[in-house]
Amino acid sequence: MSTKNLAGQHVVVVGGSSGIGKAVAAQALAAGARVTIASRSAEKLAAAAGELGDVATAVVDVTDEESVRALFAPIESLDHLVVCPGDMANGSVYEVSAESIRACLDTKLVGQLLSVRHAGKKLTPEGSIVLLAGAGGYKPFAELSVTAAANVGIGAMGRSLALELAPIRVNVVVAGLIDTPLWDFIPESDRAAFFEHTAKTTPVGRIGQPADVAASVIHLLENTFVSGALVHVDGGALL
Ligand SMILES: NC(=O)c1ccc[n+]([C@@H]2O[C@H](COP(=O)([O-])OP(=O)(O)OC[C@H]3O[C@@H](n4cnc5c(N)ncnc54)[C@H](OP(=O)(O)O)[C@@H]3O)[C@@H](O)[C@H]2O)c1
Repeated sequence: MSTKNLAGQHVVVVGGSSGIGKAVAAQALAAGARVTIASRSAEKLAAAAGELGDVATAVVDVTDEESVRALFAPIESLDHLVVCPGDMANGSVYEVSAESIRACLDTKLVGQLLSVRHAGKKLTPEGSIVLLAGAGGYKPFAELSVTAAANVGIGAMGRSLALELAPIRVNVVVAGLIDTPLWDFIPESDRAAFFEHTAKTTPVGRIGQPADVAASVIHLLENTFVSGALVHVDGGALL
């Protein structure tokens, strides 16, 4: 049997207070899992818990190793770890600030690695890890070089970790454009135009919703024969 039901399993979603992570938490709960969501903002966590129902919450900043250590210290064991925090550094190579470059790499690469480091030994042998990356980098886009480097780095990191941590499975979901608060920095009318343009140029004719990505994450948690995979959830955007 290549699938293991999530019922009764402990799933920790880092970056679970919003967007894709919150949708993963909702689908894991619906599958009967025990879920912990973690992120920086206690307010966002409380709001998410209010929506999701029976979840444990914990404050963590994945760019701070002591904070990551403190998140996992009281957790005796977990079955699955999903790591969602992201930060984009968009802009021309001549303009993007060194601070923003470091923040992006720190959250997406260092933060994901530190989460794996402090959760890894507590994962049950049949457990798994899913890391979140984005399509930018798997297809080049101008003025997205830093985010691209981070996304492709996560893919490479995930495949190495799948060998290193085996039999624990490690997989990477590479998301296309998904309608989440990640894009709130763009003014609403510009954002609507950006979403509409992307939908028109995406083979399936729409942009993604957090639940689209969460469904693939849940599949990867459940299917015990998938490890080292990069799963593209982008409506065909890379074609
Ligand atoms: N949305 C897209 O179009 C898209 C496309 C490709 C890839 N992705 C990737 O998918 C992942 C999830 O993105 P999303 O769209 O769901 O974004 P989101 O709605 O902004 O959610 C990000 C989550 O990560 C948490 N977070 C951010 N920085 C953190 C940190 N330093 N430490 C701990 N938690 C942190 C946020 O909560 P707090 O603010 O409370 O910390 C929030 O829970 C990211 O890695 C993103 O790069 C998204």
